[in-house]
Amino acid sequence: MSKNENLLVKINEYFLEHHIPAIYPENTELKNLFQVSLANIWKSITHQKKRDLHATEVSHFFVQFFGSDNINKFLAESAINLNKKYPQESDYVELYNWCLNQYALFEKEYLNTEHINVDLLESIYDQLMKLIQENQENIISYMGTFRKKFSSHTIHEINSTIIALMFAYAKEYSEERTKTLCMASLLHDLGMLKVPDDILNKEGKLTDEEFNLIKSHTISIYKELKLTKLFTEEVLTAVVQHHEHYDGSGYPQKLAGEKISDFAKIIAIADAFEAQISARSYRRTKNRYLAMRELMTDVKKSFDPKFFQTFLNTISLYPPGSLVQLNDDSIGLVTGINKEVPMRPLIKILITSDGIKVNGKIIVDLARQNHLYIVYVLNKSEYQKKN
Ligand SMILES: [Fe+2]
Ligand SMILES: [Fe+2]
Repeated sequence: MSKNENLLVKINEYFLEHHIPAIYPENTELKNLFQVSLANIWKSITHQKKRDLHATEVSHFFVQFFGSDNINKFLAESAINLNKKYPQESDYVELYNWCLNQYALFEKEYLNTEHINVDLLESIYDQLMKLIQENQENIISYMGTFRKKFSSHTIHEINSTIIALMFAYAKEYSEERTKTLCMASLLHDLGMLKVPDDILNKEGKLTDEEFNLIKSHTISIYKELKLTKLFTEEVLTAVVQHHEHYDGSGYPQKLAGEKISDFAKIIAIADAFEAQISARSYRRTKNRYLAMRELMTDVKKSFDPKFFQTFLNTISLYPPGSLVQLNDDSIGLVTGINKEVPMRPLIKILITSDGIKVNGKIIVDLARQNHLYIVYVLNKSEYQKKN
């Protein structure tokens, strides 16, 4: 075996040990070997710190041939190109996926053993809070992307809990209250796991019996959780009431108005919003503005208007990058959010009210221009037509 082939074996041993796929380069010339090794690390690992760590380790194998100065130079140059080719995943993506993974484990354990793993739920709570405190804006955009790896139930529970927690965070709930809300939200649809798949996936109209079975997911999980004595009455109440409607038209008890617990009201809004913005295998994600418009048509019937208003103030409907039309007919691009008033972001005007293209020379801060407001969010094709 040549010296370079020996080196290749050493590198592959290292990859194997660190769960990185092996490489089989046609050309084992030293420089090529080094570049292929680095590309392999970037391709298979998305976390920047881990990439850097493995790259440094692998470069040690080459130091004796190139000298440490040269190898560091190669490494720095390659990293720049590789970062462009294989963009890193941010920490929030990792954290979010971690939560989905852990929740999927929680469901699996529950289905196999009936055990409710509270420790696991608590560790998910800790990480979700981190996610919200540091990455609120990114995560809400990111959660709309469809993920094949997880069931729609897992995604729904995590996403709606994130939305509910954003509400708690905006309202500055105490840690105890926030955690109670989180537990209730993470458990709210657990009863759905016991509803047979053929009913959940049935195309066409459900029979009354089938519909009643679906509706029973609230009561069945309530009874089950009560028996475990693991949760407070507040958690149980929120779980059983999450399908009650403000006007009394919901289920299971047809409670109305103030009879419904605050946490159940928050979960109901988060639940409905999540269903609108998350992509599923059968439909694409809706943007937040359309999702909220959909919910607004229902607001008096289903939701407590007071809570709905807080919710509107919490989630910015116009994330940066949205194309919007203002009430004076000008069109612009949202470039920044005013945290205090998310409904009134910063806009870079692209077309003025007279139809003149200005391509971003005018910036309007809606928080300061009270006479202006957003009337519509445009999709790209609508914008191209106007352009
Ligand atoms: Fe439900
Ligand atoms: Fe739900």
